[in-house]
Amino acid sequence: MEVIICKTKDEASRLAADMVAACVKKNPKCVLGLATGSTPIGMYKCLAEDVKARKISFKGVRSWNLDEYWGLAGTHDQSYRYFMDKNLFELIDIDRKNTHVLNGLAKDWKREVKAYEAAIKRAGGIDLQVLGIGSDGHIAFNEPGSSLASRTRLVSLTPQTIKDNARFFKKAADVPKYALSMGVGTIMEARTIVLLAFGANKADAVKGAVEGGISQFCTASALQMHKDAWFFCDEAAAAKLKLKKYYAWRGLEELARR
Ligand code: F6R
Repeated sequence: MEVIICKTKDEASRLAADMVAACVKKNPKCVLGLATGSTPIGMYKCLAEDVKARKISFKGVRSWNLDEYWGLAGTHDQSYRYFMDKNLFELIDIDRKNTHVLNGLAKDWKREVKAYEAAIKRAGGIDLQVLGIGSDGHIAFNEPGSSLASRTRLVSLTPQTIKDNARFFKKAADVPKYALSMGVGTIMEARTIVLLAFGANKADAVKGAVEGGISQFCTASALQMHKDAWFFCDEAAAAKLKLKKYYAWRGLEELARR
C-alpha cells in the first residue's frame, strides 16, 4: 500500500487521474472499476479534460461500478447509474453499452450479482479499481462487519447511512435500506487499486485503513494485503497518520518509479 499525500484535493485528483489515464493508454480496452460519491468527482473532471484535449480515449474501455441502491431505477436522480452518466460517462467518449452498473430493480438479486461477477470475469477481471472511503472505513457498501472475503451481494445499510442519505429523498419511506455491492473479496481481485480520501472527516478512516490492524470493522484495511494499492489523500485526510512525513516523500518516489 502506498500513500500519496498532496497539499490539496485538486492535486491528488490530478495524480490519481494520471494513474487511470496511464492504465487506459497502456491498454485501450482495459477494464475499470468505478466509484460514485463526492470524492472521485474531481478526478472524473480531470479525465474528461484529458479526453477533450485528445490525450486519451475511452472508446474501447469497459467499466463496472461498485454498487447501486436496491429499489432505485437507473433513471432515478439518486441512483448510481444516473450519477455515473452525469459525472463521467456523458463527459467522455466511452461507449455506454460498455458501462455496467448493478440493476437496482433486479428482483432476483442473487441472479443479478452472479451475472455481474461472471461478466467481470469474462472481461478478464478489473485492471484498475477506483475507490472512495466512508468515514467509518467502508469501501463500496461494505459497512463495518462485512466479511473481508465477501463477494457482490445484497447488503443492509447501517442506520447511520440511511439517516445520512435521508436529505436526498423527499420522504423517509423513499430512502433505500439496501444496496447491491461488490464485496471486499471482489475488490481485492482488481490488479491495481486507486483510493481517494479528502477532508478531515476521513482522517480516522484513513488512519484505520493504513495503520490499524486488518479488520472487518474497517473494511478498507483489507487493502493492506493488496500488492498494488494507492491511497491519494489531501493533507487533512492524512493528518492522523503516524508516518505521514515518511509517506509524503516515499509515495511520490514510488509513483515516479512506477
Ligand atoms: C460509492 C461507494 C462508497 C463511497 C464512500 C465515500 O460508490 O462505494 O463507498 O466511496 O461512501 O463517499 P463520499 O465520496 O461521498 O465521501
